Parts: sequence; C-alpha cells; structure tokens
Amino acid sequence: MNDIIDSIVNRVSNKNLELPYPSDKEMQAVYNAAMRAPDHAWLHPTRFIEIKGKGLDKLSRIFENFAINDMNLENELLINKYKNAPYRAPMVLVAMTKKQEHPKVPKIEQMFSTAAAMQNVLISIDSLGYGAIWRSGIFALNNKILKYFKEDENSEIIGYIYIGTPVGKKKKIPDLKIEDYVNFWN
Ligand SMILES: Cc1cc2nc3c(=O)[nH]c(=O)nc-3n(C[C@H](O)[C@H](O)[C@H](O)COP(=O)(O)O)c2cc1C
Repeated sequence: MNDIIDSIVNRVSNKNLELPYPSDKEMQAVYNAAMRAPDHAWLHPTRFIEIKGKGLDKLSRIFENFAINDMNLENELLINKYKNAPYRAPMVLVAMTKKQEHPKVPKIEQMFSTAAAMQNVLISIDSLGYGAIWRSGIFALNNKILKYFKEDENSEIIGYIYIGTPVGKKKKIPDLKIEDYVNFWN
C-alpha cells in the first residue's frame, strides 16, 4: 500500500533485546514522533524517562525496593526477578502521563494520549531497525510506585518500553481476518 502502512503492519514486539540501542539523534526523531500523538486540547501530558547505562541500576533499585517495601515480598528468587527486570534490554523508557484538571479533557483521555505516543515510539523504533516491547506489570498504573520516581498522584506511569537490537528470528505475525473485527455499515 505505502511504506508507512507496511511498516506498521510488519512491526513486531521483541522480548530479546541487546546493544546497540538507538543513538541520541535517532531518539530525538523518536520523541518528535511520540509528541505528535493525538492530544485533546494540546495539554502535552506525556513525559518519558530515558534509562540506559547506570540508569538501569537505578531502575533496578526502584523495582527491588518496591518489591520489598510495597509488595512485601520476602522470597529472594522473586525479589531478584523484579530486581533484574530492567536488564532485559539496554534501554528502557518510562512513559508517564502528567494528569491535569481540564473542563473538557478527562484524565483518562490524557492517559490515552500517552498510550498513542507509546505506539508512535514502537513504530518509530521498528522503522529505524531496532526492536522494542511495551511492558506493564505491577510497576505500571500503580500509584504506590510514584514516590520512587519523585512523582505525586497527578502522575501515572502508563508503561515501560524496552528498547534495543532484536536477537533471534523475527516472530511470525498472526494472520487475522478483517471481517472478524470490522463491521461495515453502508
Ligand atoms: C498496555 C499493554 C501492556 C503490556 N504489558 C506487557 C507485559 O507486561 N509483558 C509482556 O510480555 N507483554 C506486554 N504487553 C504485550 C506486548 O507489548 C506485545 O504487544 C505483545 O507481546 C504482542 O506482540 P506484537 O506487538 O508483536 O503483536 C503489553 C501490551 C500492552 C498494550
């Protein structure tokens, strides 16, 4: 059809990611794409934290402290699972919404805007030849984790995008039939 649609249709998420991650210049392009997500009243509610290198150790400490203090985990194996989670990719983006009071734009719409921005990130990363996956789990949509990011309850962590270079074979895209998902009213 055209290059943009082809690239969206052929994008897949990647769980196995290694170095290299996109350059700063490439990430600038990715953020420009993210910031063009639909955004009711142009509130610009979306924020990212780009984490790589030693930043991953910081995120790991956050996940570990959260597991111990907020999930009350005592099992060493489980705590280590959460502590090691950030190292599943060389770069992690935390995607957050700064929720604002607005007469016409409910907070859920502001969160939807961040979700749309995250999809723009996934498509852009893929189009640059890298890989990514959107992860959520216990560390997203959870107001108890905000204090570790020095955020208050006006913020919401929507999810985490793990980014790097995909390892292994590209997974097969499921063959879905449009008729199963779309009704036509003519
Ligand atoms: C809101 C949201 C949260 C997700 N959370 C996780 C997660 O925590 N762990 C995971 O493995 N996949 C998660 N996924 C799914 C993957 O990001 C991905 O979409 C899925 O593996 C399908 O792969 P595909 O994007 O190649 O179709 C989440 C997706 C969405 C939209």
